[in-house]
Amino acid sequence: MAATTIRLSSYLCYLLWIVQVLSVNRDNFKTCDQSGFCKRHRNVQPGNSPYVVLADSLKITDSQISVHLLNSKTNVRLGLDLYGLQGNTARVKINELEPLKPRYEIPVGDVLIGEPKQQNLKVLDRGSGSVTLGLEKSKIVLSYSPFRVDFISGEEPLVSINSQGLLKFEHFRKKPEAQPEEQAPAEPTEEEKKEEEGEKKEEDVKEPEQEEESGLWEETYKSFHDPKLNGPSSVGIDVSFPGFENVYGIPEHAESMALKTTKDTDPYRLFNLDVFEYELYNPMALYGSVPVMWAHNEKSTVGIYWNNAAETWIDISSTTADKNFFSKIADLVKGNTEMAQMDTHWFSESGIIDIFVMLGPRPKDVFKQYAALTGSTELPPLFAISYHQCRWNYNDQDDVRNVDANMDVYDIPFDVIWLDIEHTDGKRYFTWDAHKFPASKDMLNGLSVKGRKMVTIVDPHLKRDDNYKVYSDAKNRDMMVKGSNGVEYEGWCWPGSSSWPDFLNPEVRRWWASKFQYNEYDGSTPDLYIWNDMNEPSVFNGPEITFHKDVQHYGGFENRDVHNLYGFYVQKATAEGILMRSNNEQRPFVLTRAFFAGSQRFGAVWTGDNMGEWSHLKVSNPMLLTLNLAGITFSGADVGGFFRNPDSELQTRWYQAAAFQPFFRAHAHIDTKRREPFLLPEENMKIVRDAIRLRYSYLPFWYTLFYHGYRSGETVMSPLWVEYPEDKSTFKMDDQYLLGSSLLVKPITEQGSTGTTVYFPGNSDVWYDTETYQSYAGSQSTYVNAPLGKIPVFQRGGAIVPRKMRVRRSSSLMATDPFTLVICLNKQGEALGDLYVDDYKSYAYRNGNYIHRAFSFKNNILQSSNADPNGRGSSKEWVEKLVIVGFPKAASSVHITVAGNSQSLHHSYDSATRILTVRKPEVNIATDFTITIQ
Ligand code: NOJ
Repeated sequence: MAATTIRLSSYLCYLLWIVQVLSVNRDNFKTCDQSGFCKRHRNVQPGNSPYVVLADSLKITDSQISVHLLNSKTNVRLGLDLYGLQGNTARVKINELEPLKPRYEIPVGDVLIGEPKQQNLKVLDRGSGSVTLGLEKSKIVLSYSPFRVDFISGEEPLVSINSQGLLKFEHFRKKPEAQPEEQAPAEPTEEEKKEEEGEKKEEDVKEPEQEEESGLWEETYKSFHDPKLNGPSSVGIDVSFPGFENVYGIPEHAESMALKTTKDTDPYRLFNLDVFEYELYNPMALYGSVPVMWAHNEKSTVGIYWNNAAETWIDISSTTADKNFFSKIADLVKGNTEMAQMDTHWFSESGIIDIFVMLGPRPKDVFKQYAALTGSTELPPLFAISYHQCRWNYNDQDDVRNVDANMDVYDIPFDVIWLDIEHTDGKRYFTWDAHKFPASKDMLNGLSVKGRKMVTIVDPHLKRDDNYKVYSDAKNRDMMVKGSNGVEYEGWCWPGSSSWPDFLNPEVRRWWASKFQYNEYDGSTPDLYIWNDMNEPSVFNGPEITFHKDVQHYGGFENRDVHNLYGFYVQKATAEGILMRSNNEQRPFVLTRAFFAGSQRFGAVWTGDNMGEWSHLKVSNPMLLTLNLAGITFSGADVGGFFRNPDSELQTRWYQAAAFQPFFRAHAHIDTKRREPFLLPEENMKIVRDAIRLRYSYLPFWYTLFYHGYRSGETVMSPLWVEYPEDKSTFKMDDQYLLGSSLLVKPITEQGSTGTTVYFPGNSDVWYDTETYQSYAGSQSTYVNAPLGKIPVFQRGGAIVPRKMRVRRSSSLMATDPFTLVICLNKQGEALGDLYVDDYKSYAYRNGNYIHRAFSFKNNILQSSNADPNGRGSSKEWVEKLVIVGFPKAASSVHITVAGNSQSLHHSYDSATRILTVRKPEVNIATDFTITIQ
């Protein structure tokens, strides 16, 4: 009877939650005004920093400077460490000298891939008020009073820290005893007297000024009380970018790529949250956080990485953008030529100040510098960059079988079908609903024969059911996060009452990883991969739909200190599990919703619960560009939009756009109408099929792009300024983008549109429509027709793009198919390109089992040579065709020469399109060859 009552009340709670959730809005999430530390930092006034460098304490070693900073108002001392790092990078670390307890620092090896390699700093000048250091191409000036650090290249300041004087470091302190108002303070005990004397000796004798601030020791938001057992602990400082008018990065926000000033809004917030029906173009937090920001102008690209996992807010102001019309006119009249400058102000609720300053000077340099710190995107297996078919939910095995079969009937390729939470036994992850999925292995094997895979969802919340062995195992091992009362934390999520393993604990991560072994995850096979959702974590009845801030984690830290890392560790542990189950031989694939800096090493990210609306299709481009800029290059948005029922035009345009975005997955909410591509009206179905098939034809190009990203940390989907850094007109452009330096994409994102204006970059460049091969001159905008069947994609003259034109049911069925090289010539009749090939799935490439070819076309000769002597792999793939675009005339003969032997080749010329087609060179891709045209 009692059990029934509990079950009934749980069910009612659940229903209540659903009603609440379906009606949540921005009121569920804090504004800056509702956050004590946000208000305190926003109130710091520029211009009178109390912090001074105590020059006497200065210690200089080869690559590091250590010095004390004194807060002249409170007399509290901080330690400042400044490091020179390899690759034109510096690090500024500020921590309490003697904190009452250790402040949280992210373990090295987790986000930072290792201890950053140091680089000698040369003392260039040492005066009474400052010290100047030389670091590679840059100078660093540490000024003492007030404290500030400037990073200078030549004579140009590029980055300044604390130049506005906004440094505020809330040191740990003892909670003041509550004094009964009219009573005299109690006489201190002998012990307390000694302690106090000790403290006084350590600090200067000067009477410290009290910080008059409220809300330091507790805070209440809605009905949620935050006891703040450690008191205030926030840290903040300003970072300015003199000479810059644009800053980028700090995902995740549903925002334009060029960040806006926050003068009239809240600061941008980084706090991983499950935001229902998120709004566009505002600074509210979303599912993931990457505290990295770039500033770019014609001459330089620089940036900072703020290495802090706590809730963080960032204010942005601009000397130019924040001026109103009248002050701009006044400036003009007075001849004021104030230099453009972006000022940013960063503050986190706890942790330390740990800023990496990356000094470029070019876009690709900063990406490399950042990748040296947090790693680059792992090379994904080929299936993962192919097309994914998902929905909440595919109901049962028959449903899966039917979708799989229908895709074949309609000749639509796909690589992966996904199962959402309903596939489990009552939202117990690692299990299957026995009625709906009685023979999961048979189902999986049915997919495997066509080279297809499956992804199942595994969320981090565990149903509190002692008969559920994953939960009871974690509970018995005492692996769950606890409340500040020391009791296992309990909250609501999909399974009802749930608890969460403490993924901050390396032992818990090892335990979790072991759950993916085939003998632990019943019914799984090597073709089953994983999706981590709700890992912000999402707690339906928690403050802001997440953990309470005082939830206790490994090492004695609170969720307050580590919040933005929880999802990162869930994905890391999952990827390690998938890796382990194959004895570290096969590359894992894990999709995550929550993420942090460094998540790129563990799989893909998607932009969460978007809507089937045109505005959400449009915002997917800037959101993915920003993720790319922040290192998360393997990212995508739900095709079609998660909520609502998009009409067939919107679906069609969405597929067309996503076919040219890095992670390509259709997904839909459980309440939406079924919308697999074969259900579309015939005209749309055919167009969508073409878009998906186009994606497959470009897979060799995508794979090579991801290989470059893996090696260099470069973006896969890039803003135009990455390749054309001096072209000012591209600095805010986020509705068109580049894939590598070869393809320019301008997706149609407006309803009813039959064309669009495309900006073609590059003074001396020429661009070719990839379908018609019509050419467009660079450095100008042209209106391009794009009726429903058309995706505006252009190949740069001068680029060679490898493709596979025999599209099959899945990418692995195409693994040995031949290549077509599309060679678009520049004005000099030349082109360059490359191709990366391996087994598309394992780590064998790490032992040299890969092929990296360099192609060059010059003086009418195409040459294929080895781009990398370390690549010693072999392959069955061969070259079947050359399409040479922009070729001036028909050829009289074409010859291929391999190892001294020549043979003539079939060729044809189309004078209308100026395309020379060369057929069947039939040369293995690993072979050196030349093809000569006469
Ligand atoms: C929320 C995710 O964002 C969505 O993609 C998923 O379908 C639902 N959770 C159910 O698992």
